[in-house]
Amino acid sequence: MSRLVVVSNRIAVPTGRQTPPGGLAVAVLAALKEYGGIWYGWSGEVSQLDTDTKIVNKGNITYAMVDLLPEDHDDYYNGFCNSVLWPLCHYRPQFMEFSRKEWEAYNRVNEMFARKLVPLLQPDDLIWAHDYHLFSLAHHLRLMGVTNRLGFFLHIPFPAWGLWRSLPCYEELLTFVCEYDLVGFQTNDDLIAFYNCVKYGLGVDVGNDGAFKVGKHPMRAQVFPIGIDVQATTSAARKSRRSSTRKRLIGSLRRRKLIVGIDRLDYSKGLLSRFLAYERLLELYPHHRRNCVFLQVAPESRKDVEAYDEIRRELEEAAGHINGRFADFDWAPIRYLNRGFNRGILMGILRAAQVGLVTPLRDGMNLVAKEYVACQDPRNPGVLVLSSLAGASRELSDGAVMVNPFDLDGVAEGLEVALQMPLDERIHRWRIMMKVLRHNDIRSWRISFVTTLQQWPT
Ligand code: G6P
Repeated sequence: MSRLVVVSNRIAVPTGRQTPPGGLAVAVLAALKEYGGIWYGWSGEVSQLDTDTKIVNKGNITYAMVDLLPEDHDDYYNGFCNSVLWPLCHYRPQFMEFSRKEWEAYNRVNEMFARKLVPLLQPDDLIWAHDYHLFSLAHHLRLMGVTNRLGFFLHIPFPAWGLWRSLPCYEELLTFVCEYDLVGFQTNDDLIAFYNCVKYGLGVDVGNDGAFKVGKHPMRAQVFPIGIDVQATTSAARKSRRSSTRKRLIGSLRRRKLIVGIDRLDYSKGLLSRFLAYERLLELYPHHRRNCVFLQVAPESRKDVEAYDEIRRELEEAAGHINGRFADFDWAPIRYLNRGFNRGILMGILRAAQVGLVTPLRDGMNLVAKEYVACQDPRNPGVLVLSSLAGASRELSDGAVMVNPFDLDGVAEGLEVALQMPLDERIHRWRIMMKVLRHNDIRSWRISFVTTLQQWPT
């Protein structure tokens, strides 16, 4: 079998400390663990000078890491990636701040990633790039004469043509994406959006099998919904039963029901609306006052981007306001933890919760939704309340209580349904979702992507 070389902007060398932020690092690590390979990307460090690639071997994975220069961190990571592509792909154009300087930095960094990757490559390596930071990587690798098979998987949504075309460099960027041999998306909605962009943006029609040619280059686009390592997640949650953190949490609840949310502090996660929907729950269904607690874990993220600073302030205010309005001597309705925890603790928190509240305004997949389900006690599972705008809703809508995150009363009603749901219905819904998770786990995601990439003619 060919060696797998995974490339992503964020890489995560396991340390046993805090879990790296976001689903990508968790998923890629789980996908690489079984067969090993190289994981190449940004070290997370910013250096004044151009440094050599750092290599760390751990288990069967070789981590190869490069630093970013300060101006690249500003203009590529904070700039084009997180102030242009992220808001665009999450349907938040009001946060988009385009500049040609940042677009140039994006290509400069993709060129640097390609240049430093080339010496690590062997002729039959399969190269699998991940996420919006690396739309241009294939273009630069091809210019450097790399002929290996190149796959790309987008973890976040792909925007509709009407939005994509608002990007001044949309045509060039789309052409670069089409230099990969295989491009994977989370859901059919993303795939259709991509086809439309290729059709209207490049004037190219896509065949029924998802194959098409841009110039002479044949490529293919397909849906590969990402999964989780169900067994590892379940056993992490089970093990957490003995952890003192979980015991402290459960003791502090005093038999009150726990509603939990775990998200990076990001405007796409719909946290402010979630807080307000919880407030609506307490207004509309007063029997829940004093009888439930909402715990939101939201580690900080992308602190240098202005929109992220704002959301932090808004949430602090909203939590303060709701607690001020409803709290009693011995009960605070919201516990808002603005920091990260290690994975064992997080899985324990998910298991302890009667309701998992996952209400992004847009999300590629949302692995927390899947992890919440896998963490539950099969004899007494909790209920997932899930946004219809998360990619996970495409697979879990038969088992979750579905809500539209823009409809605050609707989310409050979904919470009421979840909090009152009888045991037999909870078990029934949980089994439906577990079946999907087991069928479509992280292993089958990796195998189906890698096999398709291997078989696709280059
Ligand atoms: C999302 C993205 C990932 C990213 C992660 C954390 O999950 O899809 O590509 O790594 O957020 O964001 P950060 O900017 O800290 O890497």
